[in-house]
Order: sequence, then structure tokens, then C-alpha cells
Amino acid sequence: MTAQNPLRTRLGGELTMNDVDRAVVVAGWVSSRRDHGGVIFIDLRDRSGQVQVVANPGSASLFAIAEQTRNEFVLQVTGTVRRRPAGTVNADLPSGEIEVLAEQIELLNRAAPLPFQIDDDELSESVRLKYRFLDLRRPVMQAALRQRHQLLGVIRNFLDRQDFVEIETPLLTRSTPEGARDYLVPSRTQPGACFALPQSPQLFKQLLMVAGFERYYQIARCFRDEDLRADRQPEFTQLDVEMSFVDERQVMALMEQLLREIFQQVMQVALPDPIPRLCYAEAMSRYGSDRPDLRNPLQLSELTDVMKEVEFKVFAQPAQDPNGRVAALNVPGGAQLSRAQIDQYTDFVKQFGAKGLAYIKVAAADNGRHGLHSPILKFLSDDTLAQILARTGARAGDMIFFGADHAAIVNHALGALRVQVGEHLNLLAPGWQPLWVVDFPLLAWDHETRQWTPQHHPFTAPRPQHLQWLDSDPGRVLSCAYDMVLNGVEVGGGSIRIHRADLQLRVLKVLGIPKPQAEAEFGFLLEGLKYGAPPHGGIAFGLDRLAAMLSGVESIRDVIAFPKTQRAACLLTNAPNAVDHRQLRELGLQRRPTRAVVDSGNADNA
Ligand code: AMO
Ligand code: AMP
Repeated sequence: MTAQNPLRTRLGGELTMNDVDRAVVVAGWVSSRRDHGGVIFIDLRDRSGQVQVVANPGSASLFAIAEQTRNEFVLQVTGTVRRRPAGTVNADLPSGEIEVLAEQIELLNRAAPLPFQIDDDELSESVRLKYRFLDLRRPVMQAALRQRHQLLGVIRNFLDRQDFVEIETPLLTRSTPEGARDYLVPSRTQPGACFALPQSPQLFKQLLMVAGFERYYQIARCFRDEDLRADRQPEFTQLDVEMSFVDERQVMALMEQLLREIFQQVMQVALPDPIPRLCYAEAMSRYGSDRPDLRNPLQLSELTDVMKEVEFKVFAQPAQDPNGRVAALNVPGGAQLSRAQIDQYTDFVKQFGAKGLAYIKVAAADNGRHGLHSPILKFLSDDTLAQILARTGARAGDMIFFGADHAAIVNHALGALRVQVGEHLNLLAPGWQPLWVVDFPLLAWDHETRQWTPQHHPFTAPRPQHLQWLDSDPGRVLSCAYDMVLNGVEVGGGSIRIHRADLQLRVLKVLGIPKPQAEAEFGFLLEGLKYGAPPHGGIAFGLDRLAAMLSGVESIRDVIAFPKTQRAACLLTNAPNAVDHRQLRELGLQRRPTRAVVDSGNADNA
């Protein structure tokens, strides 16, 4: 047997002037082929980039292959590196000063006519997802997934140095209450029973603390059947972390260090040290949101106290309601907004339940009501107007918008308006604004079910000094939870956990889960907490969101190799798909006739 020549000796994209006169074998895909009547130029792409190959008509057989080559054919080229003639250097390419003069071209594989050109960046996402293996050939997608890999490397390296152990937890498990619907997997061996895919490894990581590992992490796949958006996928990846014998400050400090290291190594960006903290109440009051984008300079101003006695019922009523709020959003330079734009913003806030969007245009801030224009001026006294100007800091040329309703509606509506106006008027400062949001309430009142629900999850510890209100005034209890917000995106969240079974049962009871139900659903956790559970806490970062932000893409789908559409379907494999009767029967299931649902294939709107 003769020794085989290697399929490739060098990566084309890495060849430079240092390689001139060297004999090389390169291999890859044809990015483009240009026939210059007599000479054929082929851009050959591999994982390192691309290199130009020149085929001269001197050798008929070689030229014949070059001539039939089409985009995305796979070639092996044996040749010699040479300097490109003056005037033909491509400064945009690392290999742009050289080319490979082909001596032999081997056609390793053909490509059928392509459904789209690889360098087309106006493609519909449904086409991209159907032919994902081609879409992923695009250099932007290659770069995004490589950067995600780099991110994982930095994380693993950091946590390894900090003595964390990476431990896998089951995917076939019981339901974990993270607030979404479960994906269920029917059991064949126990007809009628189901596994649930984990919404997070929450309970397992707590049990790993009971087991004495003290520092755990996992790059964990999580499954949530919820309404999908650009930043939500039915299966997504968390960096899941848990630590024993720590308090909130220690978890946050270590995770901050990790985030700073990620930004330093992946982006060469120095994040602030320490990362600022904002308490939940202040976040809601100033930004109407628990994940404010601090690049946006706009803030809400409190007016509830000012409006209690005004004649204008629209403001006075919510101001007097203990659950009501009146607030303003001052938009610098906003007096130029047209009537149509104001109407558009009014429709916008109505989506969030607001009944209207009162406004005052400020022509002059030092001339009393004569400097102001608004249909509601007549309902407000000089004194009230002066207070509005003082609270909002409005100046000539500004526009003040008002929200008056239940506090939740005002926060939602003005919070969203703040984001929208900030984008429209281009007010966002460049750069990165990380933020910890802390001091969350433990519970939130659900008006529909008329029950307390966990603000995070039911295993989050209440502040010890607030335990006194747990039964008498649950809404007043703050928790030991923290969220990491980056440029307005919630990239992570966690808490110190309840590590005593009696307190866990008490909290579950407030949540309307009595002991028998708690024991049926989380008996294994309660059991674990009985046997010397250490104080512990942790966090989970949404890795897809983090990777998307680092890559500067809008949607997390662009940093996931094989994502699903907005309707939780995979256009590549056509999952989920109907299964045959036999499979169903084995699982003890029966199909009820329903109308077939066909995914229209639009990843954004479907
Ligand atoms: P949480 O539910 O806040 O916490 O999730 C942690 C982070 O995961 C990301 N995330 C998502 N990313 C993409 N698609 C989704 N559908 C999706 N849902 C959540 C977010 C979020 O901040 N067990 C707790 C963590 C803990 O307490 O340690 C948990 O899962 O970036
Ligand atoms: P009306 O008295 O309903 O004509 O409303 C007068 C102004 O107040 C209009 O600009 C409405 O858009 C606005 N408005 C009405 N209800 C609210 C509300 N709940 N919050 C803020 N503005 C409102």
C-alpha cells in the first residue's frame, strides 16, 4: 500500500506572504468562481477563512474541473503559494496578498443548486432554519457559534479555578415549578405516568448542596413550554451555579467577577467594579421595570402624592387608591413630537392596559401655565403645575407624559414607553450597563387566582428579619433574591435558598400548597432538607441571552445552532411530528382527532 497524501496540509485562510513558494494542499468549499476568459479564480473557504485559487488553462484536465466547479462544491487543491500581482491585493482578507496557483484540483464533492446564496444576508429566517446546515456556513453564524464556545471556555476555566465541580443532572425528571408549563414525556413502563423535562436543575442542585459538594455548576439545558419571543426558546441553556455556606453578597461578588472576566476576555471590555445595585422598589419607581436599561437616561417621576386632591378625576382617583400610582415621564426635546406621534404612543401604552396618555408640552418652564400646552391644563392648579415641573425637571422644549392607574399598569405602560421613546429618539448611551436588582418582594399577589405566587421560585429564602410578616402581611416580606440585568435584558437570576424543612413548608403554605401536596410534589427536597442541609444559594445565567448580547444579535436564535420557531417547531427536522398508533399504544396513549396544525414556517411571526 502506498502512503496516502493528506487531504489537506494547510488552512487556506491562514496562508500569508511567509508561505510564498511553498507547496500546499488546501481543501474547502467554493465561495465563488470567476471566469476571466482563460484564467479561473476560485475563492476557497474553510474554517479559517478563504484563499484565492488560480487555475490556468495550461493543464486541460485541471482547467476542465475548475470550469465545472460551482458554488459550495468541495475541492482539494494542490499547488504553490505565490504573491499576487501588484494591484490585485485584497486588503480585507488576511490571505489577500497571496494566492494558490493550482497544479491539481480534486473534486471531492458536488453541491446541488443552492436554495439561496450563502452570502445573501436578506434571507427569510424560515428558509435559514429549514436549511440550517447551509445557513451555519455563513461567516457571521460561524463567528457567533465560535464566540459562544469561547464564552463557555471562559466560564469553565473560571469556575474550575474557583473549585467548582461540573455535575450533570437528569433530563427525565419531575416537574420543577419555575412558572412555565412543562414538557412531558410519557412513560412506557408506567402507563399514564409522565416524566417532565426540567425547567431548570433547581431542586437537584439544592440536593447536591445537601450532598456536600459545596460548589456546583452545570451548563444545563432547560425546557419551558411558554410563549416564545426573540429572547425565549422552549429549550435553552443556563449556566447553573450553586454554593454552600455563602450569603448573597458572596454569590453576587463571585458572579460579578465571572461576568467581568467574560467581558474582558471575549470583548476586551472592562465592566464596572463593583457592578451597581438597585433595589426592586426603586427600579419600579424610577423605571417602571425590574430590568431597566440604564443606557436610557429617561426616568419616571413620582406624582401620586401631588395628585391626591386635584380636580382632574383621571389623576385624583388612582392617587387616592392605595394600589394606585400617578407618575410622569419627561422627554427632553419631546415638545416637537407631532400629534400623530402622540396618538401612536397613546395606542402603544393602551396595549399595557393604560386608559390614555395625558401630556403637557413645555414651551417655557418659567412662565407658569402660560408656558405650557395641554388639554388637561384647565384641571390643574398653578401650584400643581409648578410641582409637576419641579418633580420632572422639565425644561423648555420638553414633553411630559402621564400615567395614572393601578401602579402595576402605570409601571408597565410608562416603563415600556420609556424604552420606546428612548429608542425612537436615539437616547441610548453606547456601551455596557450591568446592574444587580436586589430586595425583591418574596411574593406577588395574583389577581386572577387570588393567591400569593413566588416572585422567583418557592425555594427562595425570605429575609430573616421579615419572617415576622410571613403570615400576617406576606406582601411586605422581602427575599434574598438578585437578578443580573445587562442593557435592559435579564441575563441571570438567583437567590439564597430556604435550607430548613419547617420554613420551606411554611412558605409553601402561604403559596397555597398545603403539607400533603408539598410532600407529594417536593417530598424528596423536604426529605433532603431534614438531613443537615447547609445554608446555600446560587444563580442561573441565561447563556443564550448572554451569547446573543456578546455577538450583538437581536435574537437568541442566532446563537443557537438548531433553534425552534416562535411556534416551538424545528423547521429542519419538522419536529414535533405525528407519531404512529403503535408508539402511542405502547405508551398507553390514544390520539384524539384534532385539526392538523401546520407550521407556516415564519420564525418571527408564526
Ligand atoms: P430563571 O427562571 O430566572 O431562574 O432563569 C434564569 C435565566 O435563564 C434565562 N431564561 C431563558 N432564556 C431563554 N429562553 C427562555 N425561555 C428562558 N427562561 C429563562 C434568563 C433567566 O435570567 N432556577 C432558577 C435560578 C436560580 O434560582 O438559581 C431559574 O431557573 O436569562
Ligand atoms: P379624558 O378626560 O378621558 O378626555 O382624558 C384627558 C387626557 O388624559 C387624554 O389625553 C387622555 O389620553 C388622558 N388620560 C385618560 N386616562 C388616563 C390615565 N389613566 N392615565 C394617563 N392619562 C390618561
